[in-house]
Amino acid sequence: MAIFSTTIFMFLALSLSMVLASDHSPLQDFCVADLTSQVHMNGIACKDPKIVGANDFAFSGLHKAGNTSNPIGSVVTPVTVFQLQGLNTLGISLVRIDYAPWGTNPPHTHPRASEVLTVLEGSLEVGFITSSPENRHITKVLHKGDVFAFPIGLVHYQRNVGSGNAVAIAALSSQNPGVITVANAVFGSVPDISGNILSRAFQLNKSVVNYLQSQF
Ligand SMILES: *[C@@H]1O[C@H](CO)[C@@H](O)[C@H](O)[C@H]1NC(C)=O
Ligand SMILES: *[C@@H]1O[C@H](CO)[C@@H](O)[C@H](O)[C@H]1NC(C)=O
Repeated sequence: MAIFSTTIFMFLALSLSMVLASDHSPLQDFCVADLTSQVHMNGIACKDPKIVGANDFAFSGLHKAGNTSNPIGSVVTPVTVFQLQGLNTLGISLVRIDYAPWGTNPPHTHPRASEVLTVLEGSLEVGFITSSPENRHITKVLHKGDVFAFPIGLVHYQRNVGSGNAVAIAALSSQNPGVITVANAVFGSVPDISGNILSRAFQLNKSVVNYLQSQF
């Protein structure tokens, strides 16, 4: 019986942790983030609900194209809790992504969110990689109006394969999804990861590693 209930308990604990694998549910109608608060907690402290108004739940400007004049040819305009304080505790956010022709949103992962991306303009090649050991590459070309899901934590990317600019809107299942861009994290960390480690990890000679580190 004891073993049986331990098993049940472990099963419940496991399923509970899976249910809680995204932002926690709110414990009140809203908790508009007070970005000036010095209280450090999991999330951001609430503004006094009595002084909350419509503007705390609003953001403007997402119709404006981002500036894609950069080495990767894409730019992300975020609307997370830091731009829209009313998102605090709601477990959701979104971004606009602009892509120049052949522009790429390079391989990256969101530690706290799944993503669902909608193409508003143009055509995108998108993909994600499953975890080891399979590392299966799941990829597809999307056109205007197509929607694609990127599971939480998996490395994914998009590239503009159309003839003009491309635009997408992506919703994310966290008020603060976070982003880890693989190349920047590995080759551009502060301070550097030892070149010997990267040389072994990527099976590259040190001069190539030094070159990559100089690029990020
Ligand atoms: C876009 O960014 C580039 C590089 O930072 C800059 O030179 C250019 O002036 C920007 N263009 C606009 C319209 O802001
Ligand atoms: C390292 O790799 C670069 C590029 O492949 C090559 O030009 C260079 O000779 C290599 N250096 C050594 C020490 O193997």
